[in-house]
Amino acid sequence: MRTYLKKLGAVSVIAMSVVVSPAVASGKVTGADYANGKTIFEQGKGDTPACNSCHGATGLGDDNMGTPRLAGQIYQFLAKQLDDYANDRRMDTTMYVMNANAKGLTPQDRKDVAAYLNSVGRVFSGEQLQVASGGSDVDALKENGVEVGVAYLGKELVNFGSVERGIPACLSCHSHNGRGVEPMYPRIGEQKFVYLVSQLKKFRDGSRTNDPMKQMRIVAKQLSDEDILNVATYLTQAPATTMGNTRIPVEHLP
Ligand code: HEC
Ligand code: HEC
Repeated sequence: MRTYLKKLGAVSVIAMSVVVSPAVASGKVTGADYANGKTIFEQGKGDTPACNSCHGATGLGDDNMGTPRLAGQIYQFLAKQLDDYANDRRMDTTMYVMNANAKGLTPQDRKDVAAYLNSVGRVFSGEQLQVASGGSDVDALKENGVEVGVAYLGKELVNFGSVERGIPACLSCHSHNGRGVEPMYPRIGEQKFVYLVSQLKKFRDGSRTNDPMKQMRIVAKQLSDEDILNVATYLTQAPATTMGNTRIPVEHLP
């Protein structure tokens, strides 16, 4: 019994030390020039146009252009995507621009702009890291004739998957409400609706192949068109923190 209590004690000490280290979460990416990243985002560089001309003034993405939200996305993930575009491991088949955009930047520029974007829209409120919201307005999309899904059906897949249909719960990799897990699993909660749908279809039809160990291609293969609309409808409005699950895991930057 005593050993059991001792073990419990050890567990709670570990849990405590994770909760009370906001200093780590506010940490900056070592060796990144945030000012250069900001300049590239706002003004572009050489032949690479300003990122905000497509990704929105504050990096929250744009459904009309099919661009993703970049603000507050995991640093390592953003840096990987830019490297993948630059090296043609990911092909932008949406507007055919990101490969050229990324090639126009040096590896250091890509790191700088990724670090800057990760920092956009993140603020500390008390001890908690808050991330700006910015998903799509599903009702407005619907009024404009965009086909949307049913949020509660999407929520079921995000949280539980479907054992009968071989669909794993999205949260098993992407965490609660798709808020992301460093370094590999991107934030998909409050991502733009149109972009979520397009990427799930691209993983499913094999036109996006830069997911390590085919993790997303295997998942997306099991999804019907309806499932894709449902999960995107739920995720685009899924905040990173909710009542009873208030803490974004402390992030460790390199
Ligand atoms: C002409 C419009 C345009 C411009 C300018 C642009 N982008 Fe993009 N970006 C896109 C589109 C469209 C996509 C989605 C492409 C796809 O489906 O692969 C995208 C995707 C991305 C992604 C992948 C994000 C994810 O969640 O996987 C990153 C990172 C990115 N852009 C960064 C940038 C940066 C940094 C700049 C400025 C240097 C920039 N973009 C400029 C249109 C643009
Ligand atoms: C086995 C782990 C795993 C599971 C389960 C999983 N994903 Fe992913 N997902 C990944 C990885 C890894 C990536 C990043 C791929 C890369 O590096 O380009 C990703 C990327 C994505 C992206 C692209 C994000 C972007 O910004 O480009 C979307 C959208 C996505 N996942 C949605 C889902 C949905 C919806 C589910 C549940 C139906 C799901 N994922 C389940 C591992 C997983």
